[in-house]
Amino acid sequence: MNKSELILFAQKAREKAYTPYSEFKVGAALLMTSGKIYEGCNIENAAYPVTICAERVAIFKAIAAGETDFDQLAVVADTKRPVPPCGSCRQVMSEFFSPSFSIHTCNLENEVKTVTMNDLLPYSFAASDMDK
Ligand code: THU
Repeated sequence: MNKSELILFAQKAREKAYTPYSEFKVGAALLMTSGKIYEGCNIENAAYPVTICAERVAIFKAIAAGETDFDQLAVVADTKRPVPPCGSCRQVMSEFFSPSFSIHTCNLENEVKTVTMNDLLPYSFAASDMDK
């Protein structure tokens, strides 16, 4: 599975987004080391803050299936620049992804910016910070 193929899965997932409020559709595809892919799309709600982002749907689907061997993630939206994941998603990613984990951020013009977890959220709060 190469980066371009994973991005195609994210584009396909984006088409399922439920976005009656923002009409801003996001898709994500999370590749596991097993080769399995978990797709995610954003799912909005009339109570706006309950909305969940595409990235978190993909990550939570994998975890709920009992899989935690993450390999790489692609995220795509119809944006001018490759779509930057929101802060909440970055914090969730940092719980499960290593600092060197690759995230391919993309737009529909096939512009791709690959960043690491550490690029997205350096100096992040982690479980170890609760140890005194
Ligand atoms: N959204 C995502 O799905 N991922 C992000 O990283 C940024 C924001 C969604 C949430 C909401 O449905 C819409 O985009 C507008 O914020």
